[in-house]
Amino acid sequence: MSTTHYLAREPDADGFIHYPEAEHEVWHTLITRQLSVIQGRACAEYLDGIEQLNLPHQRIPQLGEINRVLQAKTGWSVARVPALIPFQTFFELLATKQFPVATFIRTPEDLDYLQEPDIFHEIFGHCPLLTNPWFAKFTHTYGKLGLKASKEERVYLARLYWMTIEFGLIDTPQGRRIYGGGILSSPKETQYCLSHEPQHLPFDAVEAMRTPYRIDILQPLYFVLPEMKRLYQLAQEDIMALLQQARQLGLHPPKFAPKAA
Ligand SMILES: [Fe+2]
Repeated sequence: MSTTHYLAREPDADGFIHYPEAEHEVWHTLITRQLSVIQGRACAEYLDGIEQLNLPHQRIPQLGEINRVLQAKTGWSVARVPALIPFQTFFELLATKQFPVATFIRTPEDLDYLQEPDIFHEIFGHCPLLTNPWFAKFTHTYGKLGLKASKEERVYLARLYWMTIEFGLIDTPQGRRIYGGGILSSPKETQYCLSHEPQHLPFDAVEAMRTPYRIDILQPLYFVLPEMKRLYQLAQEDIMALLQQARQLGLHPPKFAPKAA
């Protein structure tokens, strides 16, 4: 992730971000489609967050609207960032309960698939669960650990993030559901991840940190939480000790082909 052709939009003197009408239309297309795809697939905690955020359908929301809800629920907020940020900034933000949101939206050509996280991914994918205290606590703890971690340790932490916050599944009384924001902002992966195609494993932090991933494919493997509270419990554990275990055990062989050069 070193280059992007997207530029985040800047706010005016009143802090208001103007988007052209065509960009509001992209938001409308994405949110309308995705709200129907996630029915019966997203977990209850996420759907509860969607209800609380009450996102507009016709226009891209302003960050202040999101902040009013998150602040009241868990003390989190969203922070406006450029399209790509360094790991250091990412961890600094999470450690202070700020979730980075790049204020740009994908073009219609990139509607189904985008490697850079845009405002739809960040707000629709991640913000609903930031209303959940257990999820919020885990994300905050994760940020604080990442801030202190070495470059090598951050690679392991990145895998933990990927296998939970981005691509996590969860068992519920109603059946297996999705909580990962990387899945919930992608129509294709929302349907694929719960099919019989990919492998599902019970969540294990050490195993998650030992599992390589690629950002540009449907995931071959997902880890399944027994319940949302498990993330809160993980936040009470010594994650850095688990990371050292993962490091000693080494990486699993990838379940995907190497990326073509
Ligand atoms: Fe994300």
